[in-house]
Amino acid sequence: MIGELLVVDDVAGEFSDAVINYFGSDQQQMVLTLSGGATARRCYEDLASRTDPEFWSRLDVAWGDERCVPLDDEDSNYALAANAFGALLDDARSVHPMRCAEGADRYGRILHDLGGPGLVHLGLGPDGHTASLFPGSNALTATADVVLNNDPLGQHQHQRMTMTFPAISKASFVIVTVEGESKREALRRVINGDRTAPAARLDGSRLLWLVDHAALGDAQPR
Ligand code: 6PG
Repeated sequence: MIGELLVVDDVAGEFSDAVINYFGSDQQQMVLTLSGGATARRCYEDLASRTDPEFWSRLDVAWGDERCVPLDDEDSNYALAANAFGALLDDARSVHPMRCAEGADRYGRILHDLGGPGLVHLGLGPDGHTASLFPGSNALTATADVVLNNDPLGQHQHQRMTMTFPAISKASFVIVTVEGESKREALRRVINGDRTAPAARLDGSRLLWLVDHAALGDAQPR
């Protein structure tokens, strides 16, 4: 397993601590790249409760993946963040939703123009996916920074736009949050370096896994 694994009781609280500490001092890339999913929602609600407009005024906000639905659709990762952060998102220095209709290359240019994805937040699916990098997807070997793709196994609806591994590797800090027994098998595969679980392919200069006891089970971090 690549990166640092911390077993914590409060994944959302530890996520907020790491984000607040990271952006507490000016970074080269003041970019916060968001995830989707229920774990992310809990993390964002916690972060919203502990930050103020001044904190957000220094940040550019991007997304690591998105479902190809309207931004106000309940399945949209933008809508998830907008609901969790509320008015704080309006205080951000800039906000860059992914819009599938504008194409993946354009989003890749947006990330490039921001100076890179900065702090990237990711989740872990029970099948081992992260962002919208699904098992068996040709996105797993894409060289472009952002691609459109579908889940080849058909387990996840909607076409997706997603950052790829080359783009994620440009992050200055990657935090993966993992909660619950349903992630135990996927996390075990990641810990064992089983690359059929896409999240096992994550690497980078600074990669932090924040996992709870339910997700870790009796796996031994390596
Ligand atoms: C998405 C997410 C996805 C998510 C994981 C974990 O668009 O669905 O980016 O990668 O982070 O599936 O989701 P849960 O926290 O809901 O299990």
